[in-house]
Amino acid sequence: MRTTRIVEMLEVTEAAALAAGRWMGKGDKMAADDAAVEAMRKAMDVLDISGTVVIGEGERDEAPMLYIGEKVGGGGELIDIAVDPLEGTNLTAYGQPNSLAVMAFGPQGSLLHAPDTYMMKVATGPAAAGMIHVDATPTENVKAVARGLDRDVGDIVVCILERERNQAMIEEVRKAGARIRLISDGDVFGAVATAIEGTGIHLYMGIGAAPEGVLAATAMRCIGGTFMGRFAFRNDEERARALQMSKCDIDGVLDMDCLVSTDEAAFIATGVTDGEMLRGVKYFGQGARTHSVAMDASSKTVRFIDTVYNTGVEKFWVRMD
Ligand code: FBP
Repeated sequence: MRTTRIVEMLEVTEAAALAAGRWMGKGDKMAADDAAVEAMRKAMDVLDISGTVVIGEGERDEAPMLYIGEKVGGGGELIDIAVDPLEGTNLTAYGQPNSLAVMAFGPQGSLLHAPDTYMMKVATGPAAAGMIHVDATPTENVKAVARGLDRDVGDIVVCILERERNQAMIEEVRKAGARIRLISDGDVFGAVATAIEGTGIHLYMGIGAAPEGVLAATAMRCIGGTFMGRFAFRNDEERARALQMSKCDIDGVLDMDCLVSTDEAAFIATGVTDGEMLRGVKYFGQGARTHSVAMDASSKTVRFIDTVYNTGVEKFWVRMD
């Protein structure tokens, strides 16, 4: 993907984060989400793209903006866009770490159209890419990552979404001897963190939302890690929706090529609340500062970007760090 396009799209996630960040700790996750959605939609309108939302806020009748199938942009390059304007609404509402404004995009037809269902997911960074599998046992995956990183199993940290449906996996990982980072929400962060040294997370596993899986898979494609999924439908209706929308075998393994079928894709996330991967939005008298990561699959470039927005005063000071 062109670098100029990535920088333009960066402003979209920054706009969402700047709007949502104002709601940090206010206990109103709907308001935080609405603010992010509205800001993201507005920011996309001025871009020279003919975008189609393939992962969004839901179906047209339940989401006024950024619904699946919605056309966005002012006209131009045909692209598929996957968005989660506020990934971790509760995290923002209660001032907890790692909520993000997220977007992935690629040429038309390149991203899996995943319905709002669940997905069994595994992800790890480049060191153990190709060594884990969604159908392997948690013990096998933990051992594979330990081998890939040349560490003992006891040195491996597995990130798992804390849900009843993941409880058996949590127990097995404990028995296998690995450590666990349980998260209450926000598994895009959980998966992507496995590919970023310093986050202290080496493997992500468990059942989370399917749309977030496509976003995380795009990041992993950019950064050279692995993501693999399998739909976990709750009912026949969800299965039928997937059959209608998805180009892959919906009962099979969702590998990287099915989730994001090109190296022309990109992934961008801007921190809303502080976390291990990104800092949250800081507001100060004369402006605000955001922290983002932008990944490009074609050049395998990963940029960490600090942006200072000046709200119009003539003089303002920018601090390092
Ligand atoms: P939000 O939609 O409130 O931002 O929550 C995001 C999330 O925590 C994802 O990261 C995760 O995949 C999914 O929700 C889990 O869904 P559920 O809460 O239904 O288990």
